[in-house]
Amino acid sequence: MPKQPEWTRRAVLRLAWVGIIAASALTIEPLVKYLTSKEDRLQSPLVAYNKPLVENSDWQNTSNSRVWVKRDSLGVMALVATCTHLGCEVHYLQEKKEWLCPCHGSIYDVEGRPISGPALKALPRVAVELKPDGSLMINTSKQVGMEIRL
Ligand code: FES
Repeated sequence: MPKQPEWTRRAVLRLAWVGIIAASALTIEPLVKYLTSKEDRLQSPLVAYNKPLVENSDWQNTSNSRVWVKRDSLGVMALVATCTHLGCEVHYLQEKKEWLCPCHGSIYDVEGRPISGPALKALPRVAVELKPDGSLMINTSKQVGMEIRL
């Protein structure tokens, strides 16, 4: 009769450690990729916008997919479409006049105020300056209040 392998306590613990290390390696690799990726981050804090903005326009996307501008009766404002929950890029739903985060479903109103989902803070508003040539320069590193206009 063949001898059955013996499952000693040491052998079971060794197998458990191998499993833990393998699972950790599988988890850590995508996490490191995400944390080191520059793909969805703003490359430069300055974004130019040189198209005309009519009064009471809807949000207009700039050359940077996360930076949007709009003009109302008080002036020009800029918004960064980065979810205040965990940083995903939010999408503007023009027909609903809402911003939707695809990651965990936060919804913001047209002005970027959270109305549902896990996000609690409004989408960040950032400074806008008028350049001598009439175009706009948006400084995404300088946050401003929602009431601030150029
Ligand atoms: S990152 Fe937008 S809801 Fe979580």
